[in-house]
Amino acid sequence: MTENKAPLLELKNVKTVFKVRQGLLKAVNGVSLSLYAGETLGLVGESGCGKSTLGKTIMRLYRPQEGEVRFEGRDIWQYSRREQKAYTQMVQMIFQDPYASLDPLSVIGDAVAEGLDIHRLAGTKKDRENNIMALLHDVGLNQSHVDRYPHEFSGGQRQRVGIARSLSLSPKLIVCDEPISALDVSIQAKVVNLLKKLQRENHMAYLFITHDLSMVRQISDRIAVMYLGSIVEIAPSEDIYSKNRHPYTRALLSAIPIADPTVEKSRKRIVLSGDVPSPVNLPAGCPFAGRCPYAQEICRTSQPQLTEMEKDHFVACHRADEMALME
Ligand SMILES: Nc1ncnc2c1ncn2[C@@H]1O[C@H](COP(=O)(O)OP(=O)(O)OP(=O)(O)O)[C@@H](O)[C@H]1O
Ligand SMILES: [Mg+2]
Repeated sequence: MTENKAPLLELKNVKTVFKVRQGLLKAVNGVSLSLYAGETLGLVGESGCGKSTLGKTIMRLYRPQEGEVRFEGRDIWQYSRREQKAYTQMVQMIFQDPYASLDPLSVIGDAVAEGLDIHRLAGTKKDRENNIMALLHDVGLNQSHVDRYPHEFSGGQRQRVGIARSLSLSPKLIVCDEPISALDVSIQAKVVNLLKKLQRENHMAYLFITHDLSMVRQISDRIAVMYLGSIVEIAPSEDIYSKNRHPYTRALLSAIPIADPTVEKSRKRIVLSGDVPSPVNLPAGCPFAGRCPYAQEICRTSQPQLTEMEKDHFVACHRADEMALME
């Protein structure tokens, strides 16, 4: 899958830090990854591990302190004005809270057309209206909704408006930051299916950020697991579930309930002890060492690098070889 193709997006050792009172907070601490056209990469990890910061770094909202973000081979911080503008069309973001991201005083039609209006791509009044209607139709909203206000909609409908907005500029990449976590479970699958359908039709890539490990499987081609600003494991989706090697990935997965009670009873769980350390004073060594049941001396002194263990399956763990044998 990842051979013979140039990536759409490439991150090389990206570090995004915030200056806080206590010092430097390393929210993204040396992330390297590639995303290919038309692909969905799931990004999972506990609250505060740096997922949104990574998403916003890709959006060019945060400038990394170190490292490079390349889009179609070009460093996004070397862009001319014109390229910057083009980038803001090609790369879009969908947010967790579809209510907060919609202006309560704007009707749905104007919300959907905002990108077109800003980039002066709306054309004539008739073109603009046709465009809005087509977008509403694509996301499964009734065209009679065009003159209504956000408060008249349910959470699921509002998220559809958010999706229609992000689609208006025909992006190549959408960063979806927890796009379904604010929605009812019954609506989540519908929105995921809509995103999949739109991806097939438009060949967009998604970075799909979530802490829901059960839903992310259904949409992702590959999944990256993040802990304290680092990617600890990245692999094709099925491998993350069936052949995972990082103790943190295992701990996250063992927290998902399994419907079958006999399987549920017989399986081993890794229960995490201790708290996530502060990203301000990161410990030396593996970021997960303080909570890892398998940690040894080396884990506390040297940080393991992401290493390809099997085709397309990368793990950052000193004991990744042994982990494959420990079920
Ligand atoms: N603008 C900011 N200024 C200072 N610190 C920040 C800023 N944004 C994020 N952080 C910190 O960076 C770390 C990563 O935050 P981030 O929001 O990226 O995590 P996340 O994985 O998206 O979490 P969640 O699942 O809760 O959305 C956290 O410790 C957070 O407090
Ligand atoms: Mg977040």
